[in-house]
Amino acid sequence: MCGIFAYLNYLTPKSRQEVLDLLVTGLKRLEYRGYDSTGVAIDSPDNKNIVMVKRTGKVKVLEDAIQELFSGSEYSDPVMTHVGIAHTRWATHGVPCERNSHPHRSDDTNAFVVVHNGIITNYNDVKTFLAKRGYEFESDTDTEVFAKLVHHLWKKHPNYSFRELVEQAILQVEGAFAIAVKSKYFPGECVASRRSSPLLVGIKTKTRLATDHIPILYGKVLPRSESTSEFMPLEEKEVEYFFASDASAVIEHTNRVIYLEDDDVAAVRDGTLSIHRLKKSLDDPHAREITTLKMEIQQIMKGNYDYFMQKEIFEQPDSVVNTMRGRVRFDGNAIVLGGIKDYIPEIKRCRRLMLIGCGTSYHSAVATRQLLEELTELPVMVELASDFLDRNTPIFRDDVCFFISQSGETADTLMALRYCKQRGALIVGITNTVGSSICRESHCGVHINAGPEIGVASTKAYTSQFISLVMFALVMSEDRLSLQTRRLEILQALSKLADQIREVLKLDSKVQELAKDLYQHKSLLIMGRGYNFATCLEGALKVKELTYMHSEGIMAGELKHGPLALVDDSMPVLMIVLRDPVYVKCMNALQQVTSRKGCPVIICEEGDEETKAFSSRHLEIPRTVDCLQGILTVIPMQLLSYHIAVLRGCDVDCPRNLAKSVTVE
Ligand code: M6R
Repeated sequence: MCGIFAYLNYLTPKSRQEVLDLLVTGLKRLEYRGYDSTGVAIDSPDNKNIVMVKRTGKVKVLEDAIQELFSGSEYSDPVMTHVGIAHTRWATHGVPCERNSHPHRSDDTNAFVVVHNGIITNYNDVKTFLAKRGYEFESDTDTEVFAKLVHHLWKKHPNYSFRELVEQAILQVEGAFAIAVKSKYFPGECVASRRSSPLLVGIKTKTRLATDHIPILYGKVLPRSESTSEFMPLEEKEVEYFFASDASAVIEHTNRVIYLEDDDVAAVRDGTLSIHRLKKSLDDPHAREITTLKMEIQQIMKGNYDYFMQKEIFEQPDSVVNTMRGRVRFDGNAIVLGGIKDYIPEIKRCRRLMLIGCGTSYHSAVATRQLLEELTELPVMVELASDFLDRNTPIFRDDVCFFISQSGETADTLMALRYCKQRGALIVGITNTVGSSICRESHCGVHINAGPEIGVASTKAYTSQFISLVMFALVMSEDRLSLQTRRLEILQALSKLADQIREVLKLDSKVQELAKDLYQHKSLLIMGRGYNFATCLEGALKVKELTYMHSEGIMAGELKHGPLALVDDSMPVLMIVLRDPVYVKCMNALQQVTSRKGCPVIICEEGDEETKAFSSRHLEIPRTVDCLQGILTVIPMQLLSYHIAVLRGCDVDCPRNLAKSVTVE
């Protein structure tokens, strides 16, 4: 929810136009996080003031406005040191409009300007406090209070450093935030901080960095003169810093980043980065490591594809292999999950497994629950994070709780994680984002290694989450003699999976034709059961999210308990009927539909003439083991939702009202 990006060049000449280009490119990379309005703030040509541009809509609208407004020669002169901040918004407080767009300012002189991701929950109290002191508010946002609070503190403590002012302000606010602040009173300085919202700092120097860590400084707020000595220089003269909500926005500039922790305050002054914390706790490390990103720039580009989602669907033959790489040895039929192997004995002793997530990540839990029950012989509960929290679900010390999240930042999932951790459960993270909050706060975990997923609709992350949980089930059963035949069958199927996904992707043009039949309808029912029920839920979610059509995933066994009333000769229906233990039951459902004049599209196994005879429209997929069918059946659903969205003229990568990373509860 919201992307923040800030750029600081120190002794590195850059024109304001170049800075603006950098800011806009950074925002484009973060656009998936929110795209209803955008804004930037840079220094005015005389360096005395801050100028801001904000626009409603996507980054492109801002880019066009910038080109129009900043084409003068004063914007092409190089500046040795400069700070620019930028934001792309997903509205929480206040409708999307320029007035509510970030950056927000302290006063009409733009003395302090702020970009923020998250929600300041006590903003009403802070607002009342500031209003009594004469501050007038111009937006409906929670963020504006932060800019005004820093300004108020600056008036009260004229000797405080910029960092100290921001620290003082942070002490007064509650909720979740990642912020970057710029001030006309502190030129060339930038202060950024986070609590429960992601933020990293990218560092670019001409030479190799002289250090691989930044010491953390602790202590109370000190007057400016006393605190100066606390800054630990990076020993680099020319340096550029990038503050961003995630690594995709900095990778084209540098692969050296520091992931900030909650309540870290990162400040750059005189080209030197310091990381400060107000309180020290016993387990705090002494330094923040500089991490080298493994990501490649190509991974965040669309290449020859029209949309990121399309690219990500077609990457699945490779992404599933990457999930298994170095973990599954097909020759020796062995699986090692390095991130959890030391915890396996403890997991085997647990009372129950709980799989918790939201949206698509939750569906990956639904998809693998049956196999986990079979191979672990443990009770497995599958929970939507928000509902789990609403119910104050009882959790015990001998529970093992899995938190599944592509982004690793989803607020509901993170809150559920903290809830379970407080109650003493073992926390296992299943995420795609190295360095994310869920990764860091888990006791152990599995990185699904699907590569960056940029389209808001999750596709390759789903299949990789699915495989990660299958691998876990296989690890848990490795010493169970009675399960060896079953394990071997699954391992063999995993070895063929990438080629079978390639086969399914060849259905693309057939699915596109099908989309032409369906795209003008109002609704689509997707039915199945057993291992394919998760595909029904996930397929319906994709259709809703991308096409704004109504769609429902229906458990075929429930058909006669209500949904059958929806079926007639005009209701679009898609049914998954595969040759597995529930085949006969699925055929019953198929007959119930066809006898109500329903004309379903059937997803069935290659060459299954008996099933195909029930409808003229079918998509045939290769045969695999029952518990992996869901990977092959979900791909036609991903393609179908994608093609319907294109035909309906929807924004495939940025569906309306949504954002990739949902960091608000
Ligand atoms: O990053 P997460 O996996 O935690 O996100 C959870 C959901 O918000 C996400 O899967 C969402 O449902 C997808 N956009 C659906 O395609």
